[in-house]
Amino acid sequence: MPTQPDLFPPQSRDGVDDVVIIGGGLAGLFCALKLAPRPVTVIAAAPIGKGASSAWAQAGIAAAVSPGDTVEKHLQDTLIAGDGIVDEKIARLMVSEASDRIHDLLEYGVPFDRDLEGHLLTSREAAHSEHRVVRVKGDMAGRKIMEALIAAVHKTPSIRLMEGYVAEELLTSGRFVSGLVARPDAGLAARTVTFPARAVVMAAGGVGHLYQITTNPAEARGGGIGMAARAGAVIADPEFVQFHPTGINVGLDPTPLATEALRGEGCTLLNDAGERFMMKLHPDAELAPRDVVARGIYAEVMSGRGAWLDCTKAVGEHFKDEFPTVYGYCQAAGIDPAKQPIPVVPAAHYFMGGILTDADGRTSLDGLWACGEVTSTGAHGANRLASNSLLEAVVFAGRIANDISETIPDSRTNPWKDRSDMNAEAETAADNAAMVRLRRIMTEKVGVIRDGEGLAQAISEIAELEKLNTSVRFGNTLTTAKMIAVGAILREESRGGHFRTDFPEAREAWKHRTFLTLAQANDAVAKLLAGES
Ligand code: SIN
Repeated sequence: MPTQPDLFPPQSRDGVDDVVIIGGGLAGLFCALKLAPRPVTVIAAAPIGKGASSAWAQAGIAAAVSPGDTVEKHLQDTLIAGDGIVDEKIARLMVSEASDRIHDLLEYGVPFDRDLEGHLLTSREAAHSEHRVVRVKGDMAGRKIMEALIAAVHKTPSIRLMEGYVAEELLTSGRFVSGLVARPDAGLAARTVTFPARAVVMAAGGVGHLYQITTNPAEARGGGIGMAARAGAVIADPEFVQFHPTGINVGLDPTPLATEALRGEGCTLLNDAGERFMMKLHPDAELAPRDVVARGIYAEVMSGRGAWLDCTKAVGEHFKDEFPTVYGYCQAAGIDPAKQPIPVVPAAHYFMGGILTDADGRTSLDGLWACGEVTSTGAHGANRLASNSLLEAVVFAGRIANDISETIPDSRTNPWKDRSDMNAEAETAADNAAMVRLRRIMTEKVGVIRDGEGLAQAISEIAELEKLNTSVRFGNTLTTAKMIAVGAILREESRGGHFRTDFPEAREAWKHRTFLTLAQANDAVAKLLAGES
């Protein structure tokens, strides 16, 4: 007999939670804070701050706040990076609201770096035409932003935290989302818990853990995207995965990151022979678009020549003070980056695809909003500009809070009786054999370099895994992997983060976004397996 899900003890007048947010990263917590004093439940797969990529972001938040910079210049850089398929209206809205959201974060206590006169300090990164990245203590932006937000959340009585709850399934009635089912103990409990809700905000993060080499935490396994796709939501641009060029190649999972700001400071990329290989690949060499640098490094690593980030001249003895996070990673691996080059490898870093949302974070399903990396707003197109991801998270989380406040009356007056439930088993378990296999398939066949044959093999292997699978959580992950592979096989060109050796150029006919439902993806898979395409 299947066990009946528990209904979480009713907290509101009619037993329905008002707003439930899935995800305890930057997007989820910012949305919860912006909704205050309205009661909100935040469900997070790991203790907040631990399972979120946001906390690991090093560079910061892009915002046109320094003298000489303008919203228009920021927009232009975003459009160029996105390689022809950015939704300009959405990107304009995002860059225009950057300064206001930075001020919100300052009010929540984020200690952004300032100069002696109190102006925000900004740094420059690849593909930005200006110094524009607002940062904290050099490379500690993500960590310090999350620390400030977590402290603000703990001080906000309207926010209830359910940590160690893995959301598994959206409850739907036709096109309407009416809550969700989650599994406690980091997804390991035998029982599930149902959260009926008036509004569900999906902020469950990205997909990096689908790959063997990734800068993302183990919780970033595409669960939110798969769950939404299974409920019928439209997924956009799933073929576009961004690989960060400089994961630190010391055999760790997740792979620690060497921030792009290092190349912004003039650090160079060398192979074993000491050759600056990026010089022959792009006029901007190390500061070329992220996908070009990632492919350059990938070619060196795959050919056995190796790739190294040499910071000894450009940063040298200042390394420890200016890049304390990267310094710590290197030191733990026995590398002194002031004196030795850092071994690097491209690592799955960011998903431009995701749940299709509009300017207010609404998805194609009523009652479901989404923000952060789980979405595809269209602001990034085929390739995200560095430091636009935290910006996108706060801008659309804020817009969702406004939209929910304006459209759904707040029926609650009573505060939570018990504001937190931390599961005993709140840590995500190690990968099982099926997850290990999926990560190998995605890395080898749906990774930095793709082709039609490899993608077809990946789709057929994912279909085999789906047949064997009995877990709802892994089913969501497999759905997301399938959507990525199907998007990639359908897009017969190369653009931004999607590179195919059998179609190495961008094609005019493909200068548009991809919109895919799970039913359409399943149709494409069925035809492929039947040998019809
Ligand atoms: C980095 O610091 O290189 C990562 C920044 C980003 O991905 O936006």
